[in-house]
Amino acid sequence: MTDHHENDQVSNESSLEDAKRRRFLTGITAGFGAVGGAVAVTPFVLSMTPSERAKNAGAPVQYDFSRIENGQMVKVEWRGKPVVLLKRTPEMIAGLEKIEPSLADPTSLDSVQPVYAQNDARADAAKPEMLVMEGICTHLGCSPVEKLAIGPDPEMGEDSQGGFFCPCHGSKFDLSGRVYKNVPATSNMPVPPYKYDGDVITIGEDDGRTA
Ligand code: FES
Repeated sequence: MTDHHENDQVSNESSLEDAKRRRFLTGITAGFGAVGGAVAVTPFVLSMTPSERAKNAGAPVQYDFSRIENGQMVKVEWRGKPVVLLKRTPEMIAGLEKIEPSLADPTSLDSVQPVYAQNDARADAAKPEMLVMEGICTHLGCSPVEKLAIGPDPEMGEDSQGGFFCPCHGSKFDLSGRVYKNVPATSNMPVPPYKYDGDVITIGEDDGRTA
């Protein structure tokens, strides 16, 4: 009886030890994963001089637009800002004109964009279906959520032609990033300078072109 009891005690202690050990190992694995990730990035950053780091932070960013399907959107980062790349369908392009009466600055007179993007599509005439835009609300800088579907939407309204909705204070933008009337934001989302080489877009560089 005593032996049995002692055996029970030993086995309880050993399973307690096992449990502690498992927790310890799990902790190491989790910690190791985090450190491993940091190690992978740090040498690259540390190997640059401060001026190289500054240059890298402001450097142009490239993306191959042929990787985006019709009606699909991706975001890339440029100068720490999210840049929306959206390949609009013909239906989306047609909706831009329909929604104009609801917009505050339909011709982008009071908004920021290169000259070649000051049109309804707010895009280079070479690829008018491509929207390239800083995805930052012009009210207080939140990131609007994409609402790409055309049709009634609880946030965008009954006549939505697709667009972007800012969850912070309810500003709405169309699929060219043009702001609606009667919302907190008053100007369209900015379009950065960009240029194409075939399907590859370079964001942050346009050689100073005006058309
Ligand atoms: S930050 Fe977008 S509505 Fe205020």
